[in-house]
Amino acid sequence: MSDLQFKRHRRLRRTESMRALVRETHLQTDDLIYPIFVVEGEQVKKAVASMPGVHHVSLDNLSEEMNELEQLGVRSVIVFGVPNEKDAVGSQAYHEEGIVQRAIQHIKGAHPNLTVVADTCLCQYTDHGHCGVIRDGDIVNDESLELITKTAVSQVKAGADVIAPSNMMDGFVTAIRQGLDEAGYSQIPVMSYAVKYASAFYGPFRDAAHSSPQFGDRRGYQMDPANRLEAIREAESDVEEGADFLIVKPALAYLDIMREVKDRFNLPLVAYNVSGEYSMIKAAAANGWVNEEEIVMEKLTSMKRAGADLIITYFAKDAARYLNQ
Ligand code: PBG
Repeated sequence: MSDLQFKRHRRLRRTESMRALVRETHLQTDDLIYPIFVVEGEQVKKAVASMPGVHHVSLDNLSEEMNELEQLGVRSVIVFGVPNEKDAVGSQAYHEEGIVQRAIQHIKGAHPNLTVVADTCLCQYTDHGHCGVIRDGDIVNDESLELITKTAVSQVKAGADVIAPSNMMDGFVTAIRQGLDEAGYSQIPVMSYAVKYASAFYGPFRDAAHSSPQFGDRRGYQMDPANRLEAIREAESDVEEGADFLIVKPALAYLDIMREVKDRFNLPLVAYNVSGEYSMIKAAAANGWVNEEEIVMEKLTSMKRAGADLIITYFAKDAARYLNQ
């Protein structure tokens, strides 16, 4: 036995404190950004059927949610507005009194220490459910940029700390950067959804945000899941255009892409752990098929190991609770 030659890797796994000494990746509450869905009306706290634990919340109920986050140590949120009125050009996306603008005002007014990220897109606000303007059945790029830029400026005017454009039009970082600078907001960073795939994992979100396309799909602007080099091209142009953060979305099926983006670019990298990834775990856990806490922590840690610095996740509250234990 003693003349066998092999490495004893198990030496470093012998006790919990030994494992803690050699642990390479650490998840912290400061890594987490919690998505919230704000609706019009009063006294609304309505469960989103396809996303157990996630709610539609009206303005008057926002503080309760924010207090909970602050108590848990989660200090960043990304805000999605779910408007009552939709039209062809998504007017409510850039209305000064729109639901998302009022939500941002409310949060920053009552909870100035929270970082408020605004999701900048048109799809919740357009009656056709696409992320841009439609002409002759086409989602036209440059006209859409104008409205997206208007949306970003209105969100910052309302108090947003970070603009996160998720529309996947070409040139949105340049357009928004220029729009923000001209409006006097050169200090506001752009967290670009640089690499966003056309994914079936968004299903539950579209239910939550009422943002399903009413015809066709998003493959003309979101990326083909089969592509890797295209992801690098997308990230590269957003870096050139002045992005301050890069998002890869979804997360779990795209950890390879995350690692590549992280290795090539020096910006903070954000994983968007999307709705379908959340609901699949919730469903399996509700059936007793997996241990929810263990699986959530394993998945979030894996995203960090793949190179993510931050994670947008519906599990933020759950994960903070586990971390605080
Ligand atoms: C809007 C947007 C989407 C998500 C975030 N912003 C959906 C989409 O492109 O249809 C998905 C988030 C999730 O699934 O959790 N453009």
